[in-house]
Amino acid sequence: MTLDTRPRILQNGPLLPQLEQALAATYRLTLLQAQPDPAAFLAAEGAQFDGIACTARIGAPRALIDALPSLRVISNFGVGFETIGVERARERGIAVGYTPDVLNDCVADTAFGLVMDVARRFSAADRFTRRGDWLRGQFPLSRRVSGKRLGIVGLGRIGRVIARRAGGFDMAVRYHNRRPVDDVPYGYEPTLEGLARWADFLVVASAGGPATRGLISAAVLDALGPQGFLVNVSRGTVVDQAALVQALQQGRIAGAGLDVFEQEPQVPEALFAMDNVVLLPHVASNTHETRQAMADLVMDNLASYFATGRVRVPVPG
Ligand code: DGY
Repeated sequence: MTLDTRPRILQNGPLLPQLEQALAATYRLTLLQAQPDPAAFLAAEGAQFDGIACTARIGAPRALIDALPSLRVISNFGVGFETIGVERARERGIAVGYTPDVLNDCVADTAFGLVMDVARRFSAADRFTRRGDWLRGQFPLSRRVSGKRLGIVGLGRIGRVIARRAGGFDMAVRYHNRRPVDDVPYGYEPTLEGLARWADFLVVASAGGPATRGLISAAVLDALGPQGFLVNVSRGTVVDQAALVQALQQGRIAGAGLDVFEQEPQVPEALFAMDNVVLLPHVASNTHETRQAMADLVMDNLASYFATGRVRVPVPG
């Protein structure tokens, strides 16, 4: 019998089936959630693991990192890494890889899909048609998208692609970041309220985590105003969700297109009855092509780490 010396990887949360297969073919893979008692399992076996493969949603929190004393590498399926104990990993010299860039186009497409849907009301019109309401009268007028003003919160990798999409719709684009960036042709708004006041569509594309929590406040929503639409493809925590629900209930903004929520998969029930709201189950990067590219990068990050001691794409900072 030959000894299996391949690195041991702990899988935290469900991954794309083909990624699970690739991981299982390359490493000794164990799914934490398949253990009858995950805490007891970690206490007994935690010292065996060299790596973690996780989804951005579940991540690898500090407590999990601390339960794995031999951990050397974390490979995250996703661009968001706020669910990973990155500081703890850094203290312990653990490499953390993630999957940016490969999903920029699909997330930007989704942002634009939501802009189109909230303004032109395609989802609402689809419901209208299916209900047979067309037989009884015309669908109400919607709002034009082309030629309008698009405000981007977070002109990072994804925000820039959204801005490029806006060019095809002859839209004016401005953005808000903590600091202006030099290499873009878009106007910089130093305050979020200023951007919201200017915009017809406010699209949130910033990173999640504590630094951006509640950035889209009641004051920002009021600055957007009753003709303005909010679109969020970033993280639910960036928007003050209670304030958003209230603003929608009171007609203080025109509508919202949301791919992300504060406590996924929970969606505030009050939103279900609103026809001016489009609700997606966090699917912005959810295409065959992009998810395969993300899976490949999860594998590349691990392979690179075990070959060179460095992941191919480390989280910044
Ligand atoms: C990401 O990559 O972070 C997406 O939001 C999917 O979770």
